[in-house]
Amino acid sequence: AASTRYEAESSSAVCTGTIDSDWAGYSGSGFCNGTNAVGAHAQFTVNAPAAGTATLRVRFANGTATARPASLIVNGSTVQTPSFEATGAWSTWATKTLTVSLNAGGNTVRFSPTTSGGLPNIDYIEV
Ligand code: GCU
Repeated sequence: AASTRYEAESSSAVCTGTIDSDWAGYSGSGFCNGTNAVGAHAQFTVNAPAAGTATLRVRFANGTATARPASLIVNGSTVQTPSFEATGAWSTWATKTLTVSLNAGGNTVRFSPTTSGGLPNIDYIEV
């Protein structure tokens, strides 16, 4: 099935930080600049037509020289810890592809940093 894009600035998403638009190349009207602290998060509510495995793409930018690891928390459980590598500039966006297991209906998908560097800037996810 075609994927659905969930923007970080959408009213159905949560960004503990600010929705910014100062780095070019984002989709929609902005991106989530999460607070640079463990526990900050970008969270999405993802609707799945049926239970099962789904491909999740997350678009991000990390203009530092250091990767930013984060817990991927689906419906309250940490399922993996993707690391968001440096993309070279805050205006250079990359897409990371992850595989997640979803329930039928609404699912919460949260990225929460495991280091005080915080999250990369997150533009959207597609599921
Ligand atoms: C800079 C950049 C932000 C980014 C932040 C960070 O301030 O302008 O877009 O979120 O660094 O380190 O997370």
